[in-house]
Amino acid sequence: MFTELYFGLIIQFSKLLLEPAASTSVPLATLHILSGNFEMEFNSKIPLNQKAIIQHENGILRVTSGLTIQQPGPSQILIRTKSVALNPCDFKMPLRFPTPGLWDGCDYAGIVVAVGSEVAKQGKFRLGDAVFGAVQGSNQADPTSGAYCEYLSIEQDFTFHIPSGLSFSTAPAISGTAIATLGIALFWSLKIPGTLEAPSVTQEDVLVYAGSSTLGILAIQMVKLCGHRVITTCSPRNFELVRSYGADLVFDYNSVTCAKDIRTSTKNALRYTLDPFSDVRSVSICQEALGKTGGRYCGQEQYQERLFSRRTVKHELVMGGAISGKGVQLPEPYGVAPNPEIRDWARIWYQVVQVLMNEGKIRPTPVEILPGGLDAVIEGLDILKSGRVSGKKLVVIL
Ligand SMILES: NC(=O)c1ccc[n+]([C@@H]2O[C@H](COP(=O)([O-])OP(=O)(O)OC[C@H]3O[C@@H](n4cnc5c(N)ncnc54)[C@H](OP(=O)(O)O)[C@@H]3O)[C@@H](O)[C@H]2O)c1
Repeated sequence: MFTELYFGLIIQFSKLLLEPAASTSVPLATLHILSGNFEMEFNSKIPLNQKAIIQHENGILRVTSGLTIQQPGPSQILIRTKSVALNPCDFKMPLRFPTPGLWDGCDYAGIVVAVGSEVAKQGKFRLGDAVFGAVQGSNQADPTSGAYCEYLSIEQDFTFHIPSGLSFSTAPAISGTAIATLGIALFWSLKIPGTLEAPSVTQEDVLVYAGSSTLGILAIQMVKLCGHRVITTCSPRNFELVRSYGADLVFDYNSVTCAKDIRTSTKNALRYTLDPFSDVRSVSICQEALGKTGGRYCGQEQYQERLFSRRTVKHELVMGGAISGKGVQLPEPYGVAPNPEIRDWARIWYQVVQVLMNEGKIRPTPVEILPGGLDAVIEGLDILKSGRVSGKKLVVIL
């Protein structure tokens, strides 16, 4: 009986993968089956194919129908995507590296509808669980890795349960992309003392540039958990916002004395700077703010190396995608070599982040909800590109 069901399940799923484009669904009986390959939710209708936002000619993003639903591998989960968050990289990657056929989008939240065999054995994720996280969208090494779709296969090691008190609207605004990027930035690049669960005994000053960005708001919370004093910059309209997440000192990056003011308030001893934007102004402020013995600068965007005139400042660009340990397949300076050690470290670190989110010690950025499904994602990315988003995350409910 189980063997029959098992093979029936495989055939059923193979049909999902192979059927031509159609708008019909496969009606499935209410039954959970653990097969040799994956466990599937059989109480809902999984369509024969799905819609997703993919790159077309010149990297133009379009909602596209009739696309394959990826079967989850042994360590993977298949989710029905319920919401997605919008990140600058979701419009930057198709602009900079246009590649027709790549699926776009990183941050998602959704409901588990199938789990791989290893996931089923371990029992950490079950059918019906509400989860969130990020994949690397517009990914040259894995073209169908993109969150802006209806059904998404994801790695369990990099997936979070949605903590109680959060929802499909708010959870993606913590941003799995920001979590991945800050894991690499704070602990592999800046190497700040202490950890999220064991604060440093010696308190350092850490400059989180652009504290009102999604990356900045999460960085403020993480650096505080590590036991440090957070210095940040943003527009005055967001001063109270960044303080509410734990920033100790806030400066307006539009002020001509910003770097000097930070240097004075840190007694010429600042050693750590995090910069999500890495433009001429931000590099200049970070570099000048660093104290007399220099220190580390970690950028999250490409920067002009020639801007670094101080030899005592060690600078580096990091990419969140490196958290998988598989590297990032992009031209210099964005490319990252594979490093399995990072994956081993991240597996544990993600568990720590989950606990802190459950305890309410890591909170999402404020959200603005955009109704309208996948079409609204494309409109939202235009709003983000125009620079009109300040101190909040755009989230689209699918
Ligand atoms: N390397 C990676 O893997 C990686 C991963 C994630 C993000 N990033 C990069 O990190 C940056 C932030 O991403 P995000 O999602 O956190 O952005 P976001 O939430 O959209 O950031 C918006 C905020 O950033 C501030 N801002 C915008 N442009 C700025 C500039 N030129 N200088 C200083 N502040 C500026 C604004 O602050 P005010 O309104 O207060 O002025 C606004 O509140 C982007 O450049 C993104 O590409 C890189």
